[in-house]
Amino acid sequence: FDVVDLIGRKRFAGQLSDPEIAWLVDAFTRGVVAPEQMSSLLMAIVIQGMERGEIRALTDAIIASGERMDFSGLGRPAIDKHSTGGVGDKTTLPLVPLLASLGVAVPQLSGRGLGHTGGTLDKLESIPGWRAELTNDEMTAMLREIGGVICAAGSGLAPADKKLYALRDVTGTVAAVPLIASSIMSKKIAEGAGGLVLDVKFGSGAFLPSVADAQELARTMVDLGTDSGLPTVALLTDMDAPLGRAVGNANEVRESVEVLAGGGPADTVALTLALAREMLDLAGLGDVDPAPALSDGRAMDAWRRMISAQGGDPDAPLPVARETEIVRADRDGEIARVDARAVGVGAWRLGAGRVRPGDPVDHAAGVEVLVRPGDRVREGDALFEVSCDNAGRLARGLEALGTAIEWGAAPERPLVAGRVTA
Ligand code: URA
Repeated sequence: FDVVDLIGRKRFAGQLSDPEIAWLVDAFTRGVVAPEQMSSLLMAIVIQGMERGEIRALTDAIIASGERMDFSGLGRPAIDKHSTGGVGDKTTLPLVPLLASLGVAVPQLSGRGLGHTGGTLDKLESIPGWRAELTNDEMTAMLREIGGVICAAGSGLAPADKKLYALRDVTGTVAAVPLIASSIMSKKIAEGAGGLVLDVKFGSGAFLPSVADAQELARTMVDLGTDSGLPTVALLTDMDAPLGRAVGNANEVRESVEVLAGGGPADTVALTLALAREMLDLAGLGDVDPAPALSDGRAMDAWRRMISAQGGDPDAPLPVARETEIVRADRDGEIARVDARAVGVGAWRLGAGRVRPGDPVDHAAGVEVLVRPGDRVREGDALFEVSCDNAGRLARGLEALGTAIEWGAAPERPLVAGRVTA
């Protein structure tokens, strides 16, 4: 095949065949198709889209670039979960031990944050001693003995996606349904779980803010899972305001531990339980109510075992920043919106996120969101508590937060706005 021909065809909205797509992904992974050629093709896909069959072929080609895992012999149903990412979205942290405590195995291969959204591994690395890298054997042992593991994806899983994602990240080609869907689902299908629950976010803090795009992404991913024999269900959930109060790393771990102790913010608990119910359903345990395990200590026990198994000390104090500053209301009024993207950018500039892959993150930096849409506040009331050790970063974080509050009547926005099934 000639890559220039294929770029030209996609540019004019033509379709690529299965063998052409398989060749492209393989040739790019081997370095035969150059990054500048692939980025040109990716931009043509962003603009012209892909048909269902093309998205399938792309997903299959990415899977074929690496190993396939198998969690069928654990003696527990293996059910996976994926969130498309958001601001303050720490649900993986309470959800995995919760499901583990109820007899499900959850292999959670997670990533690091880039841009305004956080990464689960960065959050957990604020726990002293905790390590993200495990061998496949260590992972399987944790799934067998505890039922849950949250760790970094090994280099053997979908290597083509790693290379493609790194290119998309620097060429403005992340936000497109065919590319996001194939990237996420290739990894999930290769992981070999028996079921998958997707938390597809919309709203300002999501990769794809519009509900229509999120709906299309959810439908595309559910179809890809179903076509590959992986039972998949998606919830469409609101990410217009940050989830919970904590946005950062150590503070999100602290808030997750509150949820595991039977407390925590109502939205974080509600989303954790909604996702848990879907996962239990796929595991054939639809009659189990997950809520009691959050208040009777079972989920907390599983959390402590999971953290210890990866070298972490569940009792160690988490890092705290030396400086905190309170942002106060400059008027009386009702909060119409707390813009998740502005809060995410604020936390990122404070040092909770990174600018380039491999940069260190400041585990203590972050934002506590003290108000919700619909709250009525008085001039001088606290809106945000901002933590950071670096004066320059503090100023940049505060500047981003300056646009986060919109005043006026708050519209009704349900947290779970829809459900997509096969
Ligand atoms: N997460 C992924 O793994 N891939 C994408 O393309 C976007 C989010």
